Amino acid sequence: MHDKLQALATKALASLEKATTAPALEALRVEFLGKKGALAEILGNMGKLPPEEKKSVGAIANAVRAQVEQALTAAQARVEALALEAELNGPKLDVTLPGRRATFGRRHPVSQTMDDMCAIFSRLGFEIEQGPEIELDWFNFEALNVPADHPARDMQDTFYVDEKSLTLEGKGPVVLRTHTSPVQIRTMLAKQPPVRAIMPGRVYRKDSDQTHTPMFHQIEGLFVDQKVTFAELKGTLDAFAKAFFGSSAKTRFRPSFFPFTEPSAEVDVSCTFCGGSGCRVCKQTGWLEVLGSGMVHPNVFRHAGYDPSKVTGFAFGMGVERLTMLRFGIDDLRTMFENDYRFVSQF
Ligand code: PHE
Repeated sequence: MHDKLQALATKALASLEKATTAPALEALRVEFLGKKGALAEILGNMGKLPPEEKKSVGAIANAVRAQVEQALTAAQARVEALALEAELNGPKLDVTLPGRRATFGRRHPVSQTMDDMCAIFSRLGFEIEQGPEIELDWFNFEALNVPADHPARDMQDTFYVDEKSLTLEGKGPVVLRTHTSPVQIRTMLAKQPPVRAIMPGRVYRKDSDQTHTPMFHQIEGLFVDQKVTFAELKGTLDAFAKAFFGSSAKTRFRPSFFPFTEPSAEVDVSCTFCGGSGCRVCKQTGWLEVLGSGMVHPNVFRHAGYDPSKVTGFAFGMGVERLTMLRFGIDDLRTMFENDYRFVSQF
């Protein structure tokens, strides 16, 4: 037994000395000192020995265990030092390589335009209001004087939700709003005149080509008070055009139709590319169509709980993407929603 223990000690010390990696050391620890290892096996047979021999074998066994444990600790330190050295001598860091530049985020051109537009109208005394993108058909159409079978609905075909499957709190069918005009009604229901507000937000239509995306942004404007006139509508929008496009911008009002305004006008701005002399962008007309507007229809006031014999008002709505394209000279609307950093980083 003494010999066996002595042999174990010799073998263990030799193996530990040769080991060069941490996993190899762990394997040796299990082999010699583990619960089912060589030392445990020898001690397992001790029961058969006479008592006086047990004592001396036990003492030697303890001495061998201590010796192997000590050698293991020393080997672990040596292996760790080896690993550190290998790391230090490994692939060198080339400090002469150019650094990697941090790229800064940018505000999307549409967000920039929205912010600028809101800032301009704030200076003109307009507050900012918001409404839901998932809207009751009633706010989006009915209350704006667009009945269920009105042909004006065709121009704003949208994503209807099946009438039976989803109705908002039992208040009728639901649509993704096709314009920001429903916020006019919500604002008037919540406030008493005078009301002077703009309403920015996302809107949705069943449209997709070079100048249309199924989702886009609008800014609605509403001014209601006693004796608001069409002259104020013209003055406000002309002031906006000059603030947004530059002081040389001119505006032109053309008769138009919207069910929720009467009279209604389409507003053009002198072409920002050719200054009005005619070019490809304005199709040689010298003018760019930028928004719809008009005097609030009496039926709209009735639906919003205002008395049309006491107040008048004007409203307008403009497409933010369109103004962004004109301002930055972007020729395809769809590029704005492709999420390509190379596009956004240009503005
Ligand atoms: N809501 C109209 C549209 O989306 C624009 C508009 C708003 C026209 C307010 C008149 C008054 O086309």
